[in-house]
Amino acid sequence: MNLEELKNKAQEELELVDSLDSLEQWRIKFLSRKSELSQFFDHLKDLPLEEKRVNGQKANEVRQLLEQQYFKKKQKLEAESISQKELDITRPGVKVERGHLHPLTLITRELVQTFEKLGFDIALGSEIETEYYNFDALGIPENHPARDMWDTFWLKPKTKSQKSKLLLRTHTSPMQIHYMETHQPPFRVIVPGRCFRFEATDSHHDIQFHQLEGLVVGEDVSLANFKQLMIDVLKEIFGNEIEVRFRPSYFPFVTPGLEIDIKFKNEWLEVMGAGMVHPDLFKNVKYHYQYQGFAFGLGVERIAMLKYGINDIRLFFSSDLRFLSQF
Ligand code: FA5
Repeated sequence: MNLEELKNKAQEELELVDSLDSLEQWRIKFLSRKSELSQFFDHLKDLPLEEKRVNGQKANEVRQLLEQQYFKKKQKLEAESISQKELDITRPGVKVERGHLHPLTLITRELVQTFEKLGFDIALGSEIETEYYNFDALGIPENHPARDMWDTFWLKPKTKSQKSKLLLRTHTSPMQIHYMETHQPPFRVIVPGRCFRFEATDSHHDIQFHQLEGLVVGEDVSLANFKQLMIDVLKEIFGNEIEVRFRPSYFPFVTPGLEIDIKFKNEWLEVMGAGMVHPDLFKNVKYHYQYQGFAFGLGVERIAMLKYGINDIRLFFSSDLRFLSQF
């Protein structure tokens, strides 16, 4: 059989191949060491030089062509066999891996939506603050004993001449000042965001956590309004059975000041600080004396812990998949 006949025969038979098994038979017949084509190569050595060159080139071309057609067919048959398998509706299904939201994202969204429904605007602040906004403007000057309440990560000054010292905000309250400097009452606003404290961690304290600041200012905003608002919001999040306790406390930027606890497994857990905005803050931002308001700073992790029954705050930033995949 000459090369041309061999090529035609191989191609005709390849056309008829309809399975990977028969393709393998075809390969052995036309491309293996024992194939006719290989024998053709073996006989080349007996030919005169010029014939050897011409026939060798032709035989190589035929082999390359058949190899190409073989791989093409193989790919086609493999693809068909996979799609046939996928069409097997009796095979057990493969679970699709889906992403999901972090519990802090879930609870923040729920809180934000609850306040939005009550007509609150949303503002965002910077995680890096100046000493002025984080402390001085809130009535906590240098050497004020209340600074001890907020152990601080200070940032190294970039230049010696830098006027205001920078820090990682210890709470979201600096946004009270930023917001009042740029808005006139009446308003109600919330500020969710990350805070940092240079303190030892335990099951209820981390060095980074989130707060949701709230500020409501108007002509006749009262502490009673605050109390009712908080009861409504906490009931919306936790249901009507929730037990809430308001107790007196001290923060230099409110008067009177209070803290709010929620009862969980017979123990009270503090979830926020709050109070009526101190008149000095209004004076500093040049508000008319007729205005008054309340502010609160709610610990987002603490709310998530109560809502989802989490007993250690450090789990939120642990990246532990056994914890995260439960949400
Ligand atoms: C404040 O940070 C005040 N800025 C709150 C405030 C705002 C008072 C407006 C008055 C008016 P305090 O340090 O207590 O207060 O923190 C408030 C809440 O943040 C706490 O109740 C707690 O829920 C949460 N929190 C505080 N420190 C940590 C911490 N290290 N880890 C996790 N949550 C914390």
